Amino acid sequence: MEFFEVIKNMRSMRRLKKDPVPLELLRKVLDAAVHAPSGQNTQAWRFLAVQDKSAKEWLAVHYEEAMKDRFGRLKASDDSSYGRLIKSVQYQIDHFADTPVVVLACAKRDWPFAVAEKDRVGLAPPSYGSIYPAIQNILLACRALGLGATLTTMHQMFEEKMHARFNIPEEFGVVAMIPIGFPQGRFGPVRRVPAEEVTYFDMWGEKEDCER
Ligand SMILES: Cc1cc2nc3c(=O)[nH]c(=O)nc-3n(C[C@H](O)[C@H](O)[C@H](O)COP(=O)(O)O)c2cc1C
Repeated sequence: MEFFEVIKNMRSMRRLKKDPVPLELLRKVLDAAVHAPSGQNTQAWRFLAVQDKSAKEWLAVHYEEAMKDRFGRLKASDDSSYGRLIKSVQYQIDHFADTPVVVLACAKRDWPFAVAEKDRVGLAPPSYGSIYPAIQNILLACRALGLGATLTTMHQMFEEKMHARFNIPEEFGVVAMIPIGFPQGRFGPVRRVPAEEVTYFDMWGEKEDCER
């Protein structure tokens, strides 16, 4: 697919078919992930592809609990874009266990430079800056291959339990949980504020000067 078409049509796909994702496609997605940049090229990432039914059921139960804790039972009152978002989020919660594959994107823990050594207590946060380019590559690769995916982070509410359930070492944080499968519906354009509205030139607040 044309690159800019991929970017502009890569919306979150929460309604997925039950059909398995062929290993060959999953490998392509993960290959795209490991071609992302990372700080000092440390590539301190690990990816856990969860396909086992009971493991996905476990994730489903905990994800639903976390979302309920945070937002209550989601209710979509109308057909506005927010209403549609809520419906699709609730659909994903209700069908999470049927997701063909859930990729857990894990990053090594790393204190940001801004935190002085004397102030470092407990576990360092995972190195978000070094895993998000890989996560974005996963989403882009899925779209290019016709797979639907969603970047989710609510698992952070039960991350400790996740470490125990999947034997994830403490030195890695689980940054994103990405359900992947073939989409039920069609891909569509993402809705975003145009770049001109959020971009300044040379000085904060200065819009592009067309005369230049
Ligand atoms: C850091 C981050 C965390 C997110 N967490 C969740 C999540 O827990 N559950 C979910 O359904 N979507 C989650 N999303 C997806 C956003 O809701 C979605 O990208 C946004 O509403 C724009 O919609 P679109 O991707 O369909 O264009 C997350 C996205 C980002 C970037």
